[in-house]
Amino acid sequence: MIPDSVRFFRCLNCQHAPLTTEATSEQNGRILTGQVVCPNCQQHWPIVNGVPRFVASESYARSFGGEWNLFSKTQLDSHTKTTISRDRFTEVTQTKPSDLAGKLVLECGCGMGRFLEPLAQAGANVIGIDFSTAVDAAYANLHQYPNVTIVQADLFNLPFQWDIFDFVYSIGVLHHTPNTRSALQAIARHTKPGGSLAIWVYHEHSVLKPHYLYHYLFRHLTAEQALSVIKFYHPIPWLLRRIPVIGKPLSAPLPISDYRGKLPLNPAQQLEWSYLDTVDKMTPWYIWRHAPEQVRQWFDELGYADITVGQTPCSVKGRRSFSPADSLP
Ligand SMILES: C[S@@+](CC[C@H](N)C(=O)[O-])C[C@H]1O[C@@H](n2cnc3c(N)ncnc32)[C@H](O)[C@@H]1O
Repeated sequence: MIPDSVRFFRCLNCQHAPLTTEATSEQNGRILTGQVVCPNCQQHWPIVNGVPRFVASESYARSFGGEWNLFSKTQLDSHTKTTISRDRFTEVTQTKPSDLAGKLVLECGCGMGRFLEPLAQAGANVIGIDFSTAVDAAYANLHQYPNVTIVQADLFNLPFQWDIFDFVYSIGVLHHTPNTRSALQAIARHTKPGGSLAIWVYHEHSVLKPHYLYHYLFRHLTAEQALSVIKFYHPIPWLLRRIPVIGKPLSAPLPISDYRGKLPLNPAQQLEWSYLDTVDKMTPWYIWRHAPEQVRQWFDELGYADITVGQTPCSVKGRRSFSPADSLP
């Protein structure tokens, strides 16, 4: 953790801001172990392996900790030597990383940090939070950037001041919490008046897909166990899907994600992305789906203006009105 980033923090106990840090070990100007301390009420939180920890357990996000530590580099542009994550960020948030140079940015549910990387390279001052031990993968991937801070925290109760971030975003996260709308409301108060908030959540479908049902079984497995099951049946749908027209419906009972022909990856990378994305679809404890119009309405109710729905279904962006966060619903 870069000690200076603590100026954006706020006490979860007494709401005092800013907080301070105490280091027991440091490396290259970063605190590796120590604690974040509230100078007002003396409440403190540990810094372990470079990451301040504001939650005691991963709770319902446990499968994600396993997933992102199993696939800690799979979707990192510097690893794939592509711009897939950078392009996905731009498409889903309707914002280019270069537009955020010099801005204070918060990512809620950063996973292993695939979207933090292009923002760090573009010169944004970015904080990535995640509930799960995915933060350890994110820290390992990004600790070389002095403008990146990784924090383990619950987006419903973030240890940051309200009304301060130029840009807040969350990609593929809020629908994996107990309540998507409440999650949006919780992160919406951290955008500064005049700043922007962009999210992408799962889009509802009119047809029931097989993996909706399998999810109720898979969510009881760890990410490692789910991966073993998927690797076991994977060759069947992977081959069937090569048959034109009938291959896809024939393989439907054994769900896999398949990006062949869609993403510029080599065959080994295609397979790894397929494993990762299938685990990602099947193991989360909560999965909700929404209509873009419903999400747009939530932004409106939360006092956001200039609301735009992106090309990716259920990607929505808005600008915070100029009232303070404690007046938001
Ligand atoms: C599908 S992953 C997406 C990760 C990243 N946004 C990406 O697209 O690569 C969802 C992430 O949300 C995190 N998450 C779920 N509930 C959360 C919460 N209440 N607070 C913070 N993070 C949460 C999970 O731990 C997980 O890493």
